[in-house]
Amino acid sequence: MDAYLNEWLNLIIRFAHLITGIAWVGASFYFVWLDNHLETPPQEKADKGIKGDLWAIHGGGFYEVAKYQLAPPQIPANLHWFKWEAYTTWITGFLLLSLMFYVGADTYLIDKNVADLSQFQAIAYGVGSIIVGVGCYEILVRTKLKDHGLILGLILLILITALSYGLTQVFSARGAYMHIGAIIGTMMAGNVFFGIIPAQKALVAAVEKGEAPDASYGLNAKLRSTHNTYTTLPIIFIMISNHYPITYNHEYNWLVLVAIILITAAIRQYFVLRHFGKQKPMILVGAIAALIALAYAIAPQKLTLTEAEKSQKITNTQVQTIIEQRCSACHSSSPSDAVFKVAPAGVMFNSLDDIKRWAPRIKARSVDASDMPFMNKTQMTKQERRILALWLTQLNS
Ligand code: HEC
Repeated sequence: MDAYLNEWLNLIIRFAHLITGIAWVGASFYFVWLDNHLETPPQEKADKGIKGDLWAIHGGGFYEVAKYQLAPPQIPANLHWFKWEAYTTWITGFLLLSLMFYVGADTYLIDKNVADLSQFQAIAYGVGSIIVGVGCYEILVRTKLKDHGLILGLILLILITALSYGLTQVFSARGAYMHIGAIIGTMMAGNVFFGIIPAQKALVAAVEKGEAPDASYGLNAKLRSTHNTYTTLPIIFIMISNHYPITYNHEYNWLVLVAIILITAAIRQYFVLRHFGKQKPMILVGAIAALIALAYAIAPQKLTLTEAEKSQKITNTQVQTIIEQRCSACHSSSPSDAVFKVAPAGVMFNSLDDIKRWAPRIKARSVDASDMPFMNKTQMTKQERRILALWLTQLNS
């Protein structure tokens, strides 16, 4: 596909994905908050079947919200459903995944240093992992396990860990992370499509027929929407993870991802409980402590200089030669790379001044993490990274 057209498509789809995602997560946060803040209504409202009462002020107006025990006596003419924010987030997400990682599989999904896949194989593994992951989830929530939240949660964690490990063994690190995101995101959209909306439709149908609605529908929908509550923060992390090679490019990147999923889910739990007026600050403290421990555990190794290196002065020319050979194919005013025709992220190393200006990011991408050169396309050696590291320390001293 034409690179310029591809860029516009990418921009438009990503923009749409972000907007729909904000609408979905925003609505989800709002309704979780709402549900957890409802108060016992005054008698006259309770007599009408209202279970929860809430007053709010926003944008210069008062809002009175009432939640029914099960359903109102009749369905109002205008009932607002919340499903399209979920569906459109999934559709735009899948389009973006396909455009970047499937159409662009050779560039973004296949890392020959990890596994030498063909484009077809890579797409098959990718789509296959989504189907397997979501299929397992859909089976599990239909079994008796649905009544044992903790066990179900543990099994799902093992499933995600296994998928995370497996995918990092076949895909580029970013591709693996994004596929875990796609699996979780599809589960979440599936929760709306297969669980929550059918339950709501059954509820509406029962009320219209004047029958007593089956409470089990509501419970099932509640379980799925609870799952979605805990996956929102992890999935938002995965969405932005591509910017953080300290996470995805670590040797144990699959474990790092699982740790971040757990930590962010715990943070969500703290806020959910807080809505109820249950203050459990230790959850938040624990999560932050775990995050600090993780940051410490995955920190890049400090440079220990050998005696020879201590007296060695790295010249600017040495560095310029390395950058020229390993980076300029992409990062220059006229890249020679077959895929990247414009300097990626606007980063160009045309002169020594350019290199110095970008020094902190060169350290982040090529020394602390080693995800630049991109997929090591230009085959930078460990020795060259070490020379860059030495030069960077000398530059700052
Ligand atoms: C094959 C092409 C390619 C080569 C070679 C390459 N890069 Fe990149 N670089 C990219 C792409 C694509 C991006 C944008 C995506 C991203 O940030 O991961 C990028 C982004 C960057 C950024 C900007 C993002 C940030 O984190 O600030 C820096 C800095 C960078 N590369 C440094 C380097 C260095 C240093 C080298 C050589 C050691 C190098 N790159 C070699 C493709 C390449």
